[in-house]
Amino acid sequence: MADFDSKRILLGVTGGIAAYKAAELTRLLVGRRMEVQVVMTEAATRFITPVTLQALSGKPVFVSLWDPRIDNGMAHIEFTRDADACLVAPASADFLAKLAHGQADDLLSTLCLARECPLLVAPAMNRQMWQNPATQRNLEQIRRDGIVVLGPASGEQACGEWGMGRMLEPCELLEDLEAFFQPKLLAGKRVLVTAGPTFEAIDAVRGITNRSSGKMGYAVARAALEAGATVTLITGPTQLTPPRGAKVIPVVSAQEMLNAVNAEVDAADIFISVAAVADYYVLNPSEHKIKKDAHILTLELAPNPDILANVTSRPNPPFCVGFAAESENLHEFAELKRRRKHLPLLAANLVQEAVGSDTSRLTLFDDNGVHALPPGPKIELARALIRHIATLYAATNS
Ligand code: CTP
Repeated sequence: MADFDSKRILLGVTGGIAAYKAAELTRLLVGRRMEVQVVMTEAATRFITPVTLQALSGKPVFVSLWDPRIDNGMAHIEFTRDADACLVAPASADFLAKLAHGQADDLLSTLCLARECPLLVAPAMNRQMWQNPATQRNLEQIRRDGIVVLGPASGEQACGEWGMGRMLEPCELLEDLEAFFQPKLLAGKRVLVTAGPTFEAIDAVRGITNRSSGKMGYAVARAALEAGATVTLITGPTQLTPPRGAKVIPVVSAQEMLNAVNAEVDAADIFISVAAVADYYVLNPSEHKIKKDAHILTLELAPNPDILANVTSRPNPPFCVGFAAESENLHEFAELKRRRKHLPLLAANLVQEAVGSDTSRLTLFDDNGVHALPPGPKIELARALIRHIATLYAATNS
């Protein structure tokens, strides 16, 4: 079960064109098995109807403080009593101003003032409204009051202008909310992650690579960010979007990955080597495309440096975590690999269960023995791995 299953979210929707995105957001939250109670401002109902959000959330939507459906007329207390978090998306400039001044003249603003749960807001407005000193003052104030501000992003706006003030996309807000609920076990720690395959050139267009998608490494980077770490992600070629907030260093070959790791590793407290590094590279790759002819073509391969072994053999290595993808004898090969590479922790999976998939099964090997994680989506495995790393790291550095 994910950490946010059954979390109760009070979703506030205020008046702005981005209100239409609240429908998609509601669907995504419900899809994550969160309970969503929608409250709209009067102005929001001009952009999207309560019926839409009611259908998607499966609960009646409230707008007015004086709604007769509320038994004891105490909606402002009732709705936040059980909520795990209140998310206002979109939050208009006017609503931010109300929050900054503690104004409570409608149901949503009253709820925000009367709440005990954390409040997150996703601003959405025209770039000039965003830049206005009054808005910036209000933002500063609400941040000081402990309200979490998500975004906004920069980009094309509904008014046709270009600039800062676009609401984050619903999937980004979902990610941020999930991150909000994760314990900050690695706050202040610097984590270096390698991910994806490497690509070893044969000629100008061809190369040797492997079937690693990079999904596990990217999930580990995201889970480390969620845990409050500063994350650098060194990635081989993948089709994936890196997690927001990570410093990303794209590389191609194993040698490039080694160079990037060497440049970053001194600043890392924890090194998680998820990359499927090619064991060999092609000696003397051709600068130009090799033309075919009738002869047998022989490639000469030379061993690549072992990046992880390079890091563990440094005088003051960070806390190092290895990965192993095996196709058989998982336990035996993984533990042998852990000992050979002098690792406090190694995470192993079967290639048949992991490559390219969004789900996997992970077994952890450390000095205390073997720990099988429940199978599931890679992001959940990555979160469990980060929790395990945080425990071992704290024990090693106490
Ligand atoms: N690794 C690395 N550099 C390499 C090869 C592997 O940093 N040149 C790291 C991987 O990122 C992973 C761990 O070492 O964390 C294990 O990788 P794996 O390829 O499974 O191990 P090998 O030592 O190469 O053993 P084999 O290929 O024989 O299984």
